[in-house]
Amino acid sequence: MPRVAELYFKTAIVFFIIGIAIGLNMAISHDHTVIGAHAHCNLLGWVSMAIFGGYHALNPKKAERRIAMVQYYIYTAGLTVLVPALYMMLRGNAAMEPVVAVSSLIIFAGALLFAFIIFSPKEPAITPSAAPLR
Ligand code: HEM
Repeated sequence: MPRVAELYFKTAIVFFIIGIAIGLNMAISHDHTVIGAHAHCNLLGWVSMAIFGGYHALNPKKAERRIAMVQYYIYTAGLTVLVPALYMMLRGNAAMEPVVAVSSLIIFAGALLFAFIIFSPKEPAITPSAAPLR
């Protein structure tokens, strides 16, 4: 499996465990105020990252490109900041609002980069040779 796909699955399972832990904590405490952090951790973390990893596993040539790792780091950095910041904001820490805003935009940039990867051709464009045809 390509390295970026492996990394995506490993990161996804970490977000899944954290997302479940937040969900269980909400269920046990009957306090659902952090529902947004739980839902985003599971959906942007576990679900979306597993889809990204699956796509790269099915498209190993695209996964080898530098942009695949760049996209992974941008998206993962954004989500790693968003989940705790959103959690704290929902718990009443209003100072976290700009952090949530900026990390959301970073995640959006990661999503746009993934769209670029999906729409880019499988094989790199063949540049015509400079040598004259005989
Ligand atoms: C053991 C695992 C899980 C537990 C204990 C759990 C628990 C909860 C609880 C207590 C709520 C609040 C319900 C409410 O206030 O109406 C909730 C909402 C939610 N959960 Fe989970 N959850 C789990 C796994 C997941 C997973 C795997 C996903 C997504 C892949 C997910 C996505 C959501 C979403 C989107 C909501 C918001 C639903 C709404 O607003 O109608 N949860 N969960």
